[in-house]
Amino acid sequence: MYNSKIIGLGKYLPEQVVTNHDLSEMMDTNDAWIQERTGIKERRWIRKGTEDTSAVMGAKAARVAIERSGLKPDDIDFIVFATMTPDYYFPGCGVQIQDMLGMQTVGALDIRNQCSGFVYALSVADQYIKTGMYRNILVVGAEFHSNGLDKSTRGRSVTVIFGDGAGACVLSREKNLNKGILSTHLHSEGKYAEKLTVKSPSIKHWIPEILSSKEEDLSYFPYMDGTFVFKNAVVRFSEVIREGLLKNKLDKEDIDLLIPHQANLRIAQFIQKKFGLHDDQVFNNIMKYGNTTAASVIIALTEAWEQGLIKENTNVVLAAFGSGFTWGSVIIKW
Ligand code: COA
Repeated sequence: MYNSKIIGLGKYLPEQVVTNHDLSEMMDTNDAWIQERTGIKERRWIRKGTEDTSAVMGAKAARVAIERSGLKPDDIDFIVFATMTPDYYFPGCGVQIQDMLGMQTVGALDIRNQCSGFVYALSVADQYIKTGMYRNILVVGAEFHSNGLDKSTRGRSVTVIFGDGAGACVLSREKNLNKGILSTHLHSEGKYAEKLTVKSPSIKHWIPEILSSKEEDLSYFPYMDGTFVFKNAVVRFSEVIREGLLKNKLDKEDIDLLIPHQANLRIAQFIQKKFGLHDDQVFNNIMKYGNTTAASVIIALTEAWEQGLIKENTNVVLAAFGSGFTWGSVIIKW
């Protein structure tokens, strides 16, 4: 048995900044409402006509992660790519970046677990490394939301939250079983699948049906029961963080850095208060990037590392909750 450890981190954000004020010119919203409810000041949206997509942004973040790991693309044994906004209906983005990075014909797996996507992806990669099957795995989270959002007032409660971006890490074999990823914890509750969803196009409700519908069919825009999601998120985040701490005989005082999925600053603040954590024990960057779904945890982890907040032996807790519902946590001794 081995543990796995993160040996390289990278991120990529499209350059176009969309402020709350910019949104207020597209729809009936305002900076005060958005900041008060979500903490978001601005987000990045891919500029139309540029090359960026989920796969392209994922590849850009991956190049940085691989370079920082000191490895070469050829050293990667497997790819795990988390996204809910893939470039194609099929195949997934994993195979695209295998080609974009000029890698060997290694396996590539796509994960569809929305806001929990990166935590699920990390857990899958961790198992492959623990069993000895692979030595170095590229784990990517990327989302291109902006092209699929309803930018009219009708969509405002969802659209103001989401941003585009990508992050990636290289996970590698660690012989010391007290270092690296100590444990991962995953959950789902499918009875709430329709509380946060994009229902179509799906094979059940394919494009000709949408186009020929007599009534306005908006099922291709994201739907969210925001209040219900909020209430469930705060409970599940807390449970799954506690589960991870218990498993490793850690106390909340042992958390050096909690990196929650950047869903809503109010959710993160609620959890911080619940665990009695200081401001410097919880990392947030939703103010700058909004909710980037499967990319959010890995962008935040990368940024925290770039800011020098993560060093040898830092206890890092990752936690996520999202559509499905799905939720999970990862406990890391850096
Ligand atoms: N700008 C201005 N007003 C808006 C708005 C916007 N962008 N979006 C909604 N409103 C209005 C609503 O129409 C409503 O008006 P009404 O009272 O006249 O009907 C009012 O604001 C309150 O709407 P509501 O949806 O009840 O607001 P809320 O306080 O629940 O906040 C969310 C909405 C989405 C910010 C909040 O529910 C939330 O953050 N939920 C969790 C979302 C999340 O984390 N999602 C990702 C999960 S991983």
